[in-house]
Amino acid sequence: MKHKEEELSKAVPIIEVDSISKIYKQAEPPIKALQEVSLTIKKGEIYGIIGLSGAGKSTLIRCLAKLVKPSSGRIAFHGEDITDIAGKQLLQFRQSIGMIFQHFNLLSSRTVAGNIAYPLEVAKVSKEQQNQRVEELLGLVGLSAKKGAYPSQLSGGEKQRVGIARALANHPEVLLCDEATSALDPRTTRDILDLLKTINKTLGVTIILITHDMEVIKRICHKVAVIEAGSIVEEGPVSQVFGDPQHATTKRFIQSTSHDIPEEFFKPSSPNRKLLRLRFKGNAASEPLIAQIVKKYNVEANILLGWIDNLRVIVVGTLIIELTGSSEGIANTLTYLAEHGVQCEVLEHGA
Ligand SMILES: Nc1ncnc2c1ncn2[C@@H]1O[C@H](COP(=O)(O)OP(=O)(O)O)[C@@H](O)[C@H]1O
Ligand SMILES: [Mg+2]
Repeated sequence: MKHKEEELSKAVPIIEVDSISKIYKQAEPPIKALQEVSLTIKKGEIYGIIGLSGAGKSTLIRCLAKLVKPSSGRIAFHGEDITDIAGKQLLQFRQSIGMIFQHFNLLSSRTVAGNIAYPLEVAKVSKEQQNQRVEELLGLVGLSAKKGAYPSQLSGGEKQRVGIARALANHPEVLLCDEATSALDPRTTRDILDLLKTINKTLGVTIILITHDMEVIKRICHKVAVIEAGSIVEEGPVSQVFGDPQHATTKRFIQSTSHDIPEEFFKPSSPNRKLLRLRFKGNAASEPLIAQIVKKYNVEANILLGWIDNLRVIVVGTLIIELTGSSEGIANTLTYLAEHGVQCEVLEHGA
């Protein structure tokens, strides 16, 4: 697993976003949807962009697809500036990019096979090659049996499989996913994410996905950028960002995926009793450390809850503990744990 992350860090950039901004000038007052966003996406990566509604995610991914023109800044594809390309070059670029959407955007009057064939028709692929490619794609997304069905006869997950097959029809190098699983239930979400992972692995397609859901990032992404009010506030490998989040927004996203902490854990709150959330990265052993602090600082540590998150390249363990002792003992404990690579957070009631 570690190997894969190292391999990707050596990969060549495929998309470089250099300080793009987007102002929607028609709006009154004008809306600054993106503010000097810079990103580098490497070939073969699954790159996640997470943010709340209105953060600018769709604007960003549309800029990457050249559906929206940035107000300033540049975007390069394989090192070539694509900001102002037109005509044949633009058509060629469009063929290198596939896109899938939250609401699938299928043609309701066409069958599954007809939807998948659509981009092949546009690219003027011969009828025979179209049929062959459609069969391949149906197999890839597991929909061979539904070939003749219409979108209205499909489940949400099946519709998104059609969307994926259609997006891959012309062998794109990059797949852009705009909230591709946001309309699906958790089980179907996992199936679709696993399919995307397989496509990344077996076909080498670079995937850029935007989401408001940290579970999506955790499940398949190598890297993540956190976007807030049009700016990237944090970026890095998922293991790093998840294991050691810096920005308040990132922390909030991570907490939203954590287990609920029962109300009664917060009471009674006093200077001599603190509720702590401890995160242990990788193989940092939690038990000896807890035993040490109890001895060293004459505090009492009561483990209330614990769980493990399996990220792509690292395991993060979380413990909720109740710490009682002198104020000094508690303060020293926090320092000691931090020095030993444990991320400590004092939990407040209602946080
Ligand atoms: N075509 C548009 N015209 C005017 N404002 C827009 C347009 N598209 C998006 N916006 C505004 O830009 C901001 C970012 O929107 P968007 O990129 O859709 O965010 P997200 O996908 O993260 O929800 C929002 O304030 C939104 O209202
Ligand atoms: Mg959006």
